[in-house]
Amino acid sequence: MPTAFNRRDLIVGAAGLLASAPLESALAAAMPDVAGTEAAALKDVAARRRFRFGTALSYGALTRDPAYAALVARQCDLLVAENEMKWQWLRPTPTTFAFDRFDAILGWGEAHGMAVRGHNLLWHQPKWLPAWLNAYDFGSAPHREAERLLTTHIDTVTRRYGTRIKSYDVVNEAVNPKDGTLYETSLSKALGGTEPTLDLAFHTARAAAPHAQLVYNDYMSWEPGNDAHRAGVLRLLEGFRRRGTPVDALGVQSHLITQGLPTASHVAALEGPWRQFLDAVTHMGYALVVTELDVRDNNLPADIAVRDRGVADFTRAYLDVTLAYPQLTDVLCWGLADRHSWIEGFEPRRDRAPRRPTLYDTALQPKPMRAAVAAALAAAPIRTG
Ligand code: G3I
Repeated sequence: MPTAFNRRDLIVGAAGLLASAPLESALAAAMPDVAGTEAAALKDVAARRRFRFGTALSYGALTRDPAYAALVARQCDLLVAENEMKWQWLRPTPTTFAFDRFDAILGWGEAHGMAVRGHNLLWHQPKWLPAWLNAYDFGSAPHREAERLLTTHIDTVTRRYGTRIKSYDVVNEAVNPKDGTLYETSLSKALGGTEPTLDLAFHTARAAAPHAQLVYNDYMSWEPGNDAHRAGVLRLLEGFRRRGTPVDALGVQSHLITQGLPTASHVAALEGPWRQFLDAVTHMGYALVVTELDVRDNNLPADIAVRDRGVADFTRAYLDVTLAYPQLTDVLCWGLADRHSWIEGFEPRRDRAPRRPTLYDTALQPKPMRAAVAAALAAAPIRTG
């Protein structure tokens, strides 16, 4: 059976010859036999290599789109609520919690045999915290009040779900991608700094959910322009280790962005810095989780066949490099079908052609990206841990 290693070697080895040829032609020659993987559920393809496969799902999609929910149930053995565990959804006021939507997603996932991840216990950016928290009066002992608010939140959520949730994005996106510095929030200002705030979040989660994998989750990626972000995340992860902060894994979100039709030389250029980053992370003893895979189809022609091919080849090349790390066992997409992706609403294409960022199209038909993910999982080295 051909392996990711054979295939990547071919891509990189051929880079000199194929400097500007479409990647597709290089890949086609080395494509492993994936007959049958299209018919097999992605969770089953993943399980053969001892991976798990999943997606984010929103309450709206779950309750209003039964065909989509059925697709998720067929393909996945891992699930994460797209929004419903965030402070903005869970904390309407400083003294109340609104669990019903998250509970519905968790119950549905469990009923369909899925493990459910928790996303997230602290999205450390003012923009994504509830308005009441950004304007909060921390009183005469701000440090104590900030500590109380944060620990109460994490304690309440993690103790409510107990061992039903075995992996949490404890902290999400604390690093500013522009310069790699840490964001400040009302909480961290009151608490006396960002690092103590993030450390407190992880220590609280470890004490309340000692069984759970604790993850720092961020979107530093392999495309050009991510150097400061990657460096900032590495500094943060080093600091966690130095201070003994209980962090088990890095959540590699994997919101990929195509730069044009991927070529072998283009992929080879991205691979070096990406490997250096993942090497540094894993040498510090962190596990890896692909938490939010999707693709912004930038700089690709509107033509659907060409665009889908570009997205699929870019995804395949990325996964071949990333899934080679034995510290990675879970792969989650941020939505399985184009009709439920956040990207169209946040960042439409310049030419206004509807985005095609996920594995299934708006009619829930599989796209080349689906085959690329299946092939990458099928070719990944088998997990032994
Ligand atoms: O539900 C309301 C609806 O009632 C209202 O009419 C509408 C008008 O704006 O807003 C709806 O809420 C939106 C919600 O998505 C559901 O569609 C929010 O405004 C919008 O902010 C929210 O965006 C989410 C975003 O995180 C912010 O929380 C996206 O769905 C979600 O995909 C995105 O996910 C993030 C991850 O958590 C972290 N990594 C990046 C990823 C993508 O941005």
